[in-house]
Amino acid sequence: MPLILCHSPVGGVGTTFLTARLALGLAARGHDVSAIDFTHADALKLFFGMLPAHEIPAMADATTEGIVVDGVELLSGYAAVQSGAFGRLIARSGASPFDSERIVLADVASADLALKTSLLPHAALHLCTLVPQPMSLAALTKVQPGTPTIDLEQTVFVLNQVDDTRKLSRHSQIFLRALFGDKLIATVRRDEAVNEALASFQPIARYAKQSVVLPDLAAMTIAIEARCGLVAVSEPAE
Ligand SMILES: Nc1ncnc2c1ncn2[C@@H]1O[C@H](COP(=O)(O)OP(=O)(O)OP(=O)(O)O)[C@@H](O)[C@H]1O
Ligand SMILES: [Mg+2]
Repeated sequence: MPLILCHSPVGGVGTTFLTARLALGLAARGHDVSAIDFTHADALKLFFGMLPAHEIPAMADATTEGIVVDGVELLSGYAAVQSGAFGRLIARSGASPFDSERIVLADVASADLALKTSLLPHAALHLCTLVPQPMSLAALTKVQPGTPTIDLEQTVFVLNQVDDTRKLSRHSQIFLRALFGDKLIATVRRDEAVNEALASFQPIARYAKQSVVLPDLAAMTIAIEARCGLVAVSEPAE
């Protein structure tokens, strides 16, 4: 089953939010999904409606079991990376920890280039989040320095926090669609309810059932599922 590596060269763009929602979307479509938070911020769990004080089981090896929230197994990989244990695990030849029956999503901090680089060879897909802001678009050259973004076979892009009332947002969509074609795999609108849900310790799908992000995220999930060659096991109940 594939590893989906979620990493953007710029932080604060919604990588963790999209990792969480993709994990939940794939689980709702019947897949076995694990989501590993490799960041010091430890924020992935918040998008599942959990509290900051809630401890996520630390990954010790490929057999560690996490806690299951809405069908997604959650694990923290930060300590294992810091101790070097995770590096030794993925460096072991012929024994990728991602050769399992589960889809694994890895939330990697934008600054953690070493981890991103070491996970990339194991990844079926690299999901790079962009936002319609100059700093994010300027960092396209940093996705894989030395290789034009359009030539990055494993990489697809999601434009997050789209707001069609803003000129820069509209123009960014046109530019990225022309540049990437179907490598721009989804766009997700901006909705303040995403932050309100976080502040209420609820997942967005529970906090704001009518949020515009939900149909966008559903389309993103289906597009990524197809891109990874995964077949839905079941349609979500709602
Ligand atoms: N589509 C959206 N609409 C509104 N707010 C959003 C949206 N996507 C993400 N956000 C908000 O943007 C902020 C950053 O999101 P998130 O933590 O997922 O980004 P990140 O790229 O993982 O950041 P970091 O670099 O800190 O890890 C959060 O407060 C989140 O609630
Ligand atoms: Mg993050």
